[in-house]
Amino acid sequence: MFSRLAFLKRIKAPNGGTYNLRKTATTTTLSAVLPEQPIGFRFFASQIAKRTSCFKPWPKGDYVGSFRKMSSTAGIGMAKNEEGLKLVLVNGGSRARKMVGIWLFGSAAWVFSMVLLGGVTRLTRSGLSMTDWKFTGSLPPLSEEEWLREFDKYKQSPEYKRINKGMSIEDFKFIYWMEYAHRMWGRALGVMFALPFSYFLRKGYITLGLGLRLSALFALGAGQGLIGWWMVKSGLEEPASEYAQPRVSPYRLAAHLTSAFAIYCGLFWTALSVVMPEPPAESVAWVRGAAKVKRLALPVGILVALTAVSGAFVAGNDAGHAYNTFPKMGDTWIPEDVLDMKPLIRNFFENTSTVQLDHRILATATLISIGTLWWSTRKLDIHPAVKSLIGSTVGMAALQVTLGISTLLSYVPVSLGTAHQAGALTLLTFMILLNHTVRRPSMSLLKSLPQVAKTT
Ligand code: HEM
Repeated sequence: MFSRLAFLKRIKAPNGGTYNLRKTATTTTLSAVLPEQPIGFRFFASQIAKRTSCFKPWPKGDYVGSFRKMSSTAGIGMAKNEEGLKLVLVNGGSRARKMVGIWLFGSAAWVFSMVLLGGVTRLTRSGLSMTDWKFTGSLPPLSEEEWLREFDKYKQSPEYKRINKGMSIEDFKFIYWMEYAHRMWGRALGVMFALPFSYFLRKGYITLGLGLRLSALFALGAGQGLIGWWMVKSGLEEPASEYAQPRVSPYRLAAHLTSAFAIYCGLFWTALSVVMPEPPAESVAWVRGAAKVKRLALPVGILVALTAVSGAFVAGNDAGHAYNTFPKMGDTWIPEDVLDMKPLIRNFFENTSTVQLDHRILATATLISIGTLWWSTRKLDIHPAVKSLIGSTVGMAALQVTLGISTLLSYVPVSLGTAHQAGALTLLTFMILLNHTVRRPSMSLLKSLPQVAKTT
């Protein structure tokens, strides 16, 4: 009986984690407590659980996983604990993690707003108003004389000559300010990302793994400016045919949008990994359930991304201004000219009918696959938050399809076009959240779990 009496002490580890030192009459055990987690996830999941009353309430209790007793000697215990803590991306404890997390979520939200501003710029046909570009940016025209000089440069562009001939200087100022705001908002994001990054580096909060990942995202961000200019340049060239409207290359537009989506996804995933180093797991049964969801969630996420990229080709070819009917395309289900271009492959990227048909097919497949994901996991024993997340994803997919159809039927107004673009990014956000939540927990956490979760 005496051997059951235990002495327990908490020791702070240099990397922000804590260790439990447990001494009984016969054994000494050093075990690690995972860093507090998952701040952001708990907030998000409690919100969606509240809103989707058909699912079980979010169970009470904190999700701090603790390592099972692994050894009776402190030395061996330490080595195994390191395996568990390898997931931690930020040094310096929970405060540092919170600061880095807020910064990364803020950066992801900024990229989201950049995508929307880019969409509005394109939909208001403002993107070709600035005819030159400097990496560091420049001041806008400050006097009437400077405005006239900028306007004169624009008058040389094919867009002015073929579409906007006779435009007033006031209208020119509007499209110029739109493009200027889009460019400057991007540069401000670069500064807003780089300054806290160097501060956190100096403080020693950023681990090597996180530093490399964020540097890659920063490089992609800088590249995004170059891709943007490369895209705009294609719209400043005379079109091949004298009847064609000047517009940017659909390939370059798709590259610009895909790269923006990739940066957003990378930032959002990394932010989640910072605040939620381990997935929420309370029992081995829930971890098994999550593994089954993961098998479907990954391909469905890839399908959502593919549909979004195909949407970029719809936008790049102005294909939303053709076949403004649904479900048929005009009077037929499949337009006759879908394979008219030679070589055949060009149809999938440059033929208005084909890119719109592709987008419709992919969007329908996305909706069906998300519905199937929900159907096939509805009876699984999984974390209630994962269930809520799947339910919300189904709702978001249905909303996105409705927005797409409305955008098409109303000839792509700025408001609906922008909402449809925001919807695509929101749907991707749900898919990232789902895939992040059903990750496999570390071995150490897995070992500490009971077979079945206690639901109170
Ligand atoms: C899961 C479903 C869908 C996703 C993820 C999605 C995604 C996207 C994306 C990312 C764009 C490019 C937006 C831009 O650059 O402005 C786009 C454009 C477009 N989508 Fe969808 N879409 C979906 C469903 C649909 C459906 C069902 C329709 C209608 C049949 C549709 C019609 C359009 C049209 C007309 C555009 C061009 C809008 C423009 O010119 O700005 N979408 N879509």
